[in-house]
Amino acid sequence: MVDRDISRKTAVITGATSGIGFATALALAQKGAYVIGVGRDAGRCEAAKKRIMEAGGAKVDFLTADLGLQKNIHALAGNIRGLLMNRGKNSLDVLINNAGTVCSWYTLTAEGIETQFAVNHLAPFLLTHLLMPQLLASPGARVLTMSSMSHRGTRINFKDIMLKKTYNCLAAYKHTKLCNVMFSTELQRRFDTGKICVIAIDPGLVRTDIGLKGTGGLISFVWSTRARSGVTPEEGAKTSIHLASAAELDMMPGVYWKDCKPLEPSRYSQREAEAKRLWEISERMCGIAPDSFGKP
Ligand SMILES: NC(=O)c1ccc[n+]([C@@H]2O[C@H](COP(=O)([O-])OP(=O)(O)OC[C@H]3O[C@@H](n4cnc5c(N)ncnc54)[C@H](OP(=O)(O)O)[C@@H]3O)[C@@H](O)[C@H]2O)c1
Repeated sequence: MVDRDISRKTAVITGATSGIGFATALALAQKGAYVIGVGRDAGRCEAAKKRIMEAGGAKVDFLTADLGLQKNIHALAGNIRGLLMNRGKNSLDVLINNAGTVCSWYTLTAEGIETQFAVNHLAPFLLTHLLMPQLLASPGARVLTMSSMSHRGTRINFKDIMLKKTYNCLAAYKHTKLCNVMFSTELQRRFDTGKICVIAIDPGLVRTDIGLKGTGGLISFVWSTRARSGVTPEEGAKTSIHLASAAELDMMPGVYWKDCKPLEPSRYSQREAEAKRLWEISERMCGIAPDSFGKP
């Protein structure tokens, strides 16, 4: 597949301070793209920016935002628009919703939302909504959201969307990764104008520290053992880099990709009624009026 001229493109990548997000940010910056990385810790953002610049990425900025809080996502979107304006742009070519978290315990954010649901699902939903005018202003823009093979074999629990009654760390993680696929399918249905390309990505099993950060005991132990057989973050970033860089949108069928090619997501994730229902719940939880997604 032919690459588009990525050196003329701008990419926002959340969770760009480590793992797959850092590898993606580094590769796109090295190809000459203007990269806006997002991380939750100012020191780690500064360190990531320094590493990317030292490795030859000339155009890179980092913004700090804890994506667990919607007020931070609103501020972040404003700051992203500010950086675009500084470069005389009001369009965004690539949004990679990559940040993700695993939490052993049922914890609520200060806004009363279960942490994995807030960071892994609602943050991509809200950030995409807020940046949609800029994405629609860039013909062929990409919205890529990091899902996982773990979306398979699970369903949306509409009666208990934050899994309060039955919280289990891995079940909650899988639930949010299913939300990522269903968000992407519904976004594609709603904005199927040929103008934007919406894809959920399965990076495979990748050797990162994701399972060691918000966890303890058995979960940390299992992850540290399991992750050893995973690929490197650079390998895990290949599909994101490919989809951000490839030229031919019409050569990108499907809504779910793994190993730089489309793959059938779970049957359940393709159910339209359930995706619409999840969308409407997400709108309410993000304070977005019905049918105003993506409108300024
Ligand atoms: N590793 C795998 O095998 C695998 C498999 C399937 C899917 N995925 C998905 O791939 C994505 C990247 O994960 P990874 O494995 O590369 O893990 P990672 O190295 O831990 O990267 C996660 C990134 O998200 C950031 N982050 C976490 N919570 C945040 C918050 N509240 N606000 C803002 N940023 C936050 C982290 O910041 P810090 O650097 O400060 O921690 C980090 O930059 C995730 O969506 C994950 O679900 C991973």
